[in-house]
Amino acid sequence: MKILLLAALFALANAKHEQYIGWKSYFVGPASSEQLASLHSNSNKFNLDILSRPTVQNAGLTLVHPDSQEGFVSTLENLGITYSIHVNDVKVQLDRDDEITEAYQRSLGKFWNSSLPYENYQNWETIVSYLSETAERNPNITKLVKGGLSSEGRDLYYLKISSTDFEDWTKPVIVIDAAIHAREWIGIPVATWIINKLTDELDEADLLEKFDWIIIPVVNPDGYVYSHDYDRFWRKTRSNHTEHWCLGADANRNFDHYWNTEGVSQYACDETYAGVSVLSEPEAQFVSSIINEHLARIALYLTLHSYGSTITYPWSHRIGLSNNALGLHSVGIAIVNGIQELALPQFPRYEVGNSALVLGELISGSSDDYAHSIGVPLTLTLRLPGTIPRSSAGFILDPQYIQQVVTETWKGISAGVRRAGELVN
Ligand SMILES: *[C@@H]1O[C@H](CO)[C@@H](O)[C@H](O)[C@H]1NC(C)=O
Ligand SMILES: *[C@@H]1O[C@H](CO)[C@@H](O)[C@H](O)[C@H]1NC(C)=O
Ligand SMILES: *[C@@H]1O[C@H](CO)[C@@H](O)[C@H](O)[C@H]1NC(C)=O
Ligand SMILES: [Zn+2]
Repeated sequence: MKILLLAALFALANAKHEQYIGWKSYFVGPASSEQLASLHSNSNKFNLDILSRPTVQNAGLTLVHPDSQEGFVSTLENLGITYSIHVNDVKVQLDRDDEITEAYQRSLGKFWNSSLPYENYQNWETIVSYLSETAERNPNITKLVKGGLSSEGRDLYYLKISSTDFEDWTKPVIVIDAAIHAREWIGIPVATWIINKLTDELDEADLLEKFDWIIIPVVNPDGYVYSHDYDRFWRKTRSNHTEHWCLGADANRNFDHYWNTEGVSQYACDETYAGVSVLSEPEAQFVSSIINEHLARIALYLTLHSYGSTITYPWSHRIGLSNNALGLHSVGIAIVNGIQELALPQFPRYEVGNSALVLGELISGSSDDYAHSIGVPLTLTLRLPGTIPRSSAGFILDPQYIQQVVTETWKGISAGVRRAGELVN
C-alpha cells in the first residue's frame, strides 16, 4: 500500500511540467538596435515565449517549442545575432527548480513567526494571511481592502497604508503592484517587503508621514496559483470567455489605452492575447479602478514585473516620449542609483529609458501607459532581476537571492518615491 502510494506520488511529481518536454531556452543577445528590430520582426514565426526581453545592453531569455528550434537558430545565425542555449531540457530544469524550492521549504520547517519568511517564494494562502495579520497588527495605519473578485472567484486584495487614514489631500499617493503576470514571482516578495518596511519594520518615518501608499502584492492570484500548481510559465489570467478554447488573457494588454493595437495577439492561446474587449479581465478592472479612484492624488504608479533589470516608462504603444519624460527619467535614475548602492555584481546593471526604445518593440494596453494617459504624472515598469546572465541556472530567481533583491529594490524604490515627492510638489 505504502509502495503503491509512493509510486503514485512519484508519477505525479514526474507528470508535472510535461508540457515542456523537448523545449529549450536560449539567451539571445542582439548587439544593435537594428538586430533587436530584426529579431522582433522574425519572432512571430517561431511563437517564442519570451521570459526576459532582450535589450541591446542585456541578453534576453526565451523558451522555444521543439518544432521551432531549428528554424529559430538558423534565423539567428542568418541575422548574425549572438545566442546560446540556457537550458537544454526545460522540463528537467523545472523539476530541478522544484527540488531547490522544496529543499528550502523543508529547511524552513512549518513554523514561522508573524513576519513573512523571505527564504522562499510563498503561496497565495500564506500571502493572504500575511496581509490580514499585518492589517490586524497595524490597525491605526493599514486597511486591507477587497477590490473585487478574480475570474475564479478569489478576492483581489490591496493594502492601504497611511498615517492619516488617506484623509490628508496634500499627501501624494504611491501605488505599487506586482504579479499581474502570474509567473513573475519575485515581484510579490518585493511588494510584501515594502509593506513590512512601512509597518512592522518602519525605520524611515518620512515615507509614511509624507506619502499615502496602496500596495497590491498579487494582481493576478488565479494565474499565480496556476503557475504553482500546473504550469510554471503561466502568464495570463484564468478567465473563460467560452467561445475560446484557451483560458486567460494578458491583463497587461487589457487596459484602455490603444487596446489591441501593438504587441498583442488576437489568438486566445497566445501569451500576449489582449482579451475579448477592453477591461474584459477582472484583474485589469481592479487596478484600473484603484487608479481612477485616487487619480487626483497619485504621484507615482510603479508596476513590478520580471525579469530583465530594466525600468521603462511611457510611451509603450508608439515611439515617442511623454511630455513628462524628464521627470520619469529622473525617478527611474533615482531608483537605479538606490539599487546600485546595494546590488550584487552577479546581476546586470539596470537600464532606464523609454519603453519603446529600450525594448525595441511596441506594446499597447499596458497599465503604466494607461495610468499615464489619464493623468498620473509618473508611471514606471520595473523588471526585477532574474536568472543570472550567462549561467545555466534555472528559471526561478534562486530563492537564496530573494532577500537581496527585496532589500536592494526597496532602497531604490524609497529613493524614487522621495524624488517623485520633490517633482510633484
Ligand atoms: C522570527 O523567528 C526567527 C527564527 O526563529 C528569529 O530569528 C527572528 O528573530 C524572529 N523574529 C521575530 C520578529 O520574532
Ligand atoms: C500607531 O500605533 C503605534 C502603537 O500602537 C504607535 O507607536 C504609532 O505612533 C501609531 N502611528 C500613527 C501614525 O498613529
Ligand atoms: C469554459 O466554460 C464553459 C461553459 O461553462 C465550459 O463548458 C468549458 O469547459 C470551460 N472551458 C475550460 C477550458 O475550462
Ligand atoms: Zn510582466
